[in-house]
Amino acid sequence: MTSVLIQKQAFLGANVAQKQRSRPLGRARIVAARAELELKPLPFAQDALEPKISKETLEVHWGKHHRTYVNNLNGQIKDKPLANKALEEIIVETYNNGSPTPEFNNAGQIFNHDFYWESISPEKQQPEGELKEAIDRDFGSLDEFKKQFKAAGATQFGSGWAWLTKGKDGKLKVTKTPNAESPLVYGETPLLTMDVWEHAYYIDYRQARPEYMNIFVEELINWKKVAERFAA
Ligand SMILES: [Fe+2]
Repeated sequence: MTSVLIQKQAFLGANVAQKQRSRPLGRARIVAARAELELKPLPFAQDALEPKISKETLEVHWGKHHRTYVNNLNGQIKDKPLANKALEEIIVETYNNGSPTPEFNNAGQIFNHDFYWESISPEKQQPEGELKEAIDRDFGSLDEFKKQFKAAGATQFGSGWAWLTKGKDGKLKVTKTPNAESPLVYGETPLLTMDVWEHAYYIDYRQARPEYMNIFVEELINWKKVAERFAA
């Protein structure tokens, strides 16, 4: 897990703004380091996914839900030791070996949403090279991967996420997690995720999760980003 955390530092560094604050303490003044998480900008314009995912969905999903997770976590960890930790460290620590503390849901949702936005491309892509070879090796075919990935999303009862993950044995596999969980809490490396919370698709597809998942899998996956994560 330590090596996984180290590998992710560049990603996390973009999400944590270190600020210095002077604080009076009697006649003396000390300088306390305070880490504050910020809402990362979307990697594309809010109308870039129209009509597959509408600007209205992104205004609500990124602009309200994702922003709320960031604001909530900042409030929960303010002036506490967790405020000086990287997001992935907060997630693993607050998961607390399966007995999550109140901070876990917000920290997990921040990571999952950052990861989701970066899993999406406005231009249709296909997997290539070593990533495609690994998909063929571990799933038999790209079509079989798509079938398993959509099945994971469809069978996640209630809110959650479907994932393409590199397991501890180095093999690719499809998993699903409820609510704010991610493969990080199991020491696995996520490569791709699809949000299947209703807020991801309800404005555009109403209750039709399968229609949203078909568009996501066939048209929206940023396979170049998945390949970068696979090679890291
Ligand atoms: Fe979401």
